[in-house]
Amino acid sequence: MRYVYLILIFVVIAAVSVLGFRGTKSTKNPLEIFDDMDHMPKYQPQDESAFFADGRTDRLPVPGTVARGTFEPDAFKASGKNGDAYGSGFPIAVDNAAMKRGEERYNIYCTPCHGAAGDGQGRLAAYGMTAIANLTAAPYTEMPEGEIYHYIVNGSRSGRMYGYKEKLSVEDRWKVVLYVRALQRAANGSVNDLTPADKEGLGL
Ligand code: HEC
Repeated sequence: MRYVYLILIFVVIAAVSVLGFRGTKSTKNPLEIFDDMDHMPKYQPQDESAFFADGRTDRLPVPGTVARGTFEPDAFKASGKNGDAYGSGFPIAVDNAAMKRGEERYNIYCTPCHGAAGDGQGRLAAYGMTAIANLTAAPYTEMPEGEIYHYIVNGSRSGRMYGYKEKLSVEDRWKVVLYVRALQRAANGSVNDLTPADKEGLGL
């Protein structure tokens, strides 16, 4: 008979431990008989540490550590800014190759919205996306190069356009800015841009 009671107690405990007290919520820590390695003697990122004097688990790089890979030492080239202000000009070689590369990247990443001509009439405009910036008009024609670069990296001010940090390298971003400048020039050209030789025979 003793065994029957013991087995009954065992069955009840087993049933409760498997099924639990269903539906009851508790703010207390669960009873951990087997903690399944929930708690490991390791530091999580940004944990506190009683071991290090400054109280941080994350250690600073040792003095003299040199950044590699994506590090860009030229602040203007990296951010488009000189101090707090957007800078003008290009920190890359401005030549035909850069323009070609900029055109290619622009056509891949920007045309769906801004259109091949930069006027905001891309495919997405046809599908009903509104208020896409016309990059060939003010204020974009007046913006310093560094500001256009900044929006390419970080996205637009209103957050309606994402940044292209991951998609475009530092060099490529500047090449896209270069191509945007070319689109602006093309959209705002006038007869006065023509050389006398060009004008010849056009009856101008
Ligand atoms: C998914 C659509 C989309 C794509 C792709 C896109 N843009 Fe935009 N972009 C927008 C919209 C919409 C705005 C206007 C939103 C706003 O004013 O915040 C905008 C605004 C801008 C602005 C002005 C930002 C501001 O805050 O005034 C610049 C510069 C710009 N885009 C450049 C680019 C370049 C260069 C690319 C390609 C690398 C690109 N965009 C790709 C949708 C897009």
